[in-house]
Amino acid sequence: MNVKSLTPLFSAKDIAERVNLLAAEIDHVYGDTPLLIVCVLKGAAIFFADIVRALRKPHITLDFVRVSSYGMANTPEACVSFLKDVEVPLEGKDVLVIEDIIDTGQSMDFLMGQFAARSPRSLRLAVLVDKTERRHAAVRADFVGFALRQGFIVGYGLDYAEQYRQLPDICTLDFA
Ligand code: IMP
Ligand code: MG
Repeated sequence: MNVKSLTPLFSAKDIAERVNLLAAEIDHVYGDTPLLIVCVLKGAAIFFADIVRALRKPHITLDFVRVSSYGMANTPEACVSFLKDVEVPLEGKDVLVIEDIIDTGQSMDFLMGQFAARSPRSLRLAVLVDKTERRHAAVRADFVGFALRQGFIVGYGLDYAEQYRQLPDICTLDFA
């Protein structure tokens, strides 16, 4: 597949505005209770870095996970697994997972299921982009940056074959 073009979809300014609004929502929901925020590597890294710095609540701890990637997980039969797990127990904690994009829903269905089984006090999901057309696992995000029906997007952490993560805007990637 040859890449045809990059077309800006959400500008850095659009993203910054949404991130600030999401952070305000998150602050509102959790108040001053301690919160463990988990970044799903690698795609959510930039979103995570911006959102945690926009929060005003005290008592935040951070951790990271990585689950098997898109290429291996885009068929209904595919099996998702941990490449890296969190380093702390989740039991009794308020846990907020930060993900870049939900597509079929398989990755987050796996991760949220695994995390729920560890008895957190609460478990919520914040996603930068909720892409709906190919959804087949019943995953619902509690905080959504942007809704998108279809298309392949890159930038602001999102990649195609590990490229384009550094772009400040989110762009649609069209293939020749
Ligand atoms: P899911 O398991 O099908 O929901 O896929 C989720 C993962 O696929 C995301 O965490 C991304 O890493 C990747 N992905 C899905 N759609 C896109 C896209 O449009 N651009 C970049 N990565 C994507
Ligand atoms: Mg991802």
